[in-house]
Amino acid sequence: MVQFDAEKKGNLLEPQLQLHEDPNSGSTDASRRTTRRYNMALLLHYLLCLVFFLHVGLGIGKGPAFSKYYNDSMKKFFRAYPTYTSPVHPCTSTVPPISEKEFGSRQLSLAKALVVLNAEAYIAEPGAQTQFFGNFSNVDWKLSERPLFLIITPGQNPVENTTVAEVSVLTPKFEATRARLLNIPFVKRYIEWAEEEDPYAVAAEALGLFSKDSSLKGKNIFIDNSARHFHYDGFKGALAGIDISVSSAPFQVNQLREHKSNAEIEIMKCASEATLLAIRHVHKQMRLGMRESEARNMMSVALSQIGLSQGGCLTLFGENAALPHGSGTDKALGPTDFALFDCTATLHGYWSDVTRTVALPSSQISSRHLNVWRSVEQAQNWAKLAAREGANARSVDKTARAAFLDDLSGYFTHRLGHGIGLEGHEQPYLNGGSKAVLQHGHAFSIEPGIYIEGEVGVRLEDCAYIGDQGNSIYLTEGAGGPSTSPWEP
Ligand SMILES: *[C@@H]1O[C@H](CO)[C@@H](O)[C@H](O)[C@H]1NC(C)=O
Ligand SMILES: *[C@@H]1O[C@H](CO)[C@@H](O)[C@H](O)[C@H]1NC(C)=O
Ligand SMILES: *[C@@H]1O[C@H](CO)[C@@H](O)[C@H](O)[C@H]1NC(C)=O
Repeated sequence: MVQFDAEKKGNLLEPQLQLHEDPNSGSTDASRRTTRRYNMALLLHYLLCLVFFLHVGLGIGKGPAFSKYYNDSMKKFFRAYPTYTSPVHPCTSTVPPISEKEFGSRQLSLAKALVVLNAEAYIAEPGAQTQFFGNFSNVDWKLSERPLFLIITPGQNPVENTTVAEVSVLTPKFEATRARLLNIPFVKRYIEWAEEEDPYAVAAEALGLFSKDSSLKGKNIFIDNSARHFHYDGFKGALAGIDISVSSAPFQVNQLREHKSNAEIEIMKCASEATLLAIRHVHKQMRLGMRESEARNMMSVALSQIGLSQGGCLTLFGENAALPHGSGTDKALGPTDFALFDCTATLHGYWSDVTRTVALPSSQISSRHLNVWRSVEQAQNWAKLAAREGANARSVDKTARAAFLDDLSGYFTHRLGHGIGLEGHEQPYLNGGSKAVLQHGHAFSIEPGIYIEGEVGVRLEDCAYIGDQGNSIYLTEGAGGPSTSPWEP
């Protein structure tokens, strides 16, 4: 990817990213227009309050039609002024990372699961799992052929006779100092292996697996599923001839990360809202004739300015968007083209994933393509309503498909969605073959799309989570939620 030079191309960013739209400052046409819109919206708001009073207080206009109208109007109002729903944007500087206490309870849950599974240790190399249990990932420690492992073993608190988690790190000896700089909560010891040693044997020795203790017979050692296969072979080799089984971690271990805590949801909400605000910001700077690469660079800058990390977008214009993951060309935006942005970024290690398919004020979108856009919007709405605690992921996928009439249904070629968290794509997956059942704390994308090759591609994506009431709530809700038209991302 072309690296964007913020200094040289700073003009692309004018005006600077403004998240707090202050309707009363400045005297440009734009700000006068904003003031006018603000006053109108305020007036509308008061009118709606009055109507609401008449409705609730005096019982006039009882019925769902009014309530829906009121809700939609409020939503429009908040969309124009995202500041009013989330007074602390950009939340990226105020939402706290995962606390030490939460890391402690994750480690303890793992230790307890290991006891139940008759396992002596869980071993992971830097990645999403070490981020979850140990607060570091392969961003902090690049993978190489030399193993660095987070090792969690169940221990016993002798006083209270309860299970505790014991956290160790296996590190190359010459990198031990750097390994100690990782902020790993509750780490108890660093096991160092020298260049001439077998790191797997060093780890096994330190964990006491070579002891003649008969209680070790038939125990399990679990290796993280995403660890590279040669680590698995390494432990198998080191433990050859010993009655200890080495295998990948089972479901009971992997699912510990699937259900998001409140702290995780707060981080993910912020990441999603900030990503959406960055897309809206770039949308306002776009012009016909610009290239996909140019818009992509503007997005990278906007995502990093708003305080997110690892930000990037697929940016596809016109028929290029019919290939869900891009075409490799660098198309210029034509007047009849939609522009599709599929953006991801992280906050405290948690990913956002937001897709918008937009048009410019001067675009001339055909009614056929607008119709496609509306159908995708409908599919997203339907899927969101269907995504509830206890629903089968595959039936949610099916509900989204039902929104398309025969002429379009063959073009929804992609699954409806995927789980999201410390990995951009994780369990549960929402597709026609999924066996997952949606549960409290699950977070996942809802991203229907229509891909007509050579012609048009439309995808709308917001991530949602299953909240306390059992219904799904958009992670973008605080910034106004889903797109309501190609001109209002
Ligand atoms: C309007 O919003 C309220 C509060 O969020 C909700 O209880 C109600 O069901 C909504 N009504 C409709 C028709 O969407
Ligand atoms: C997790 O690591 C980050 C830096 O990577 C650090 O700022 C934070 O304090 C650590 N959290 C805990 C609970 O140690
Ligand atoms: C500790 O707890 C385990 C099971 O939880 C029990 O089998 C064992 O007898 C207890 N030991 C003591 C010393 O209380």
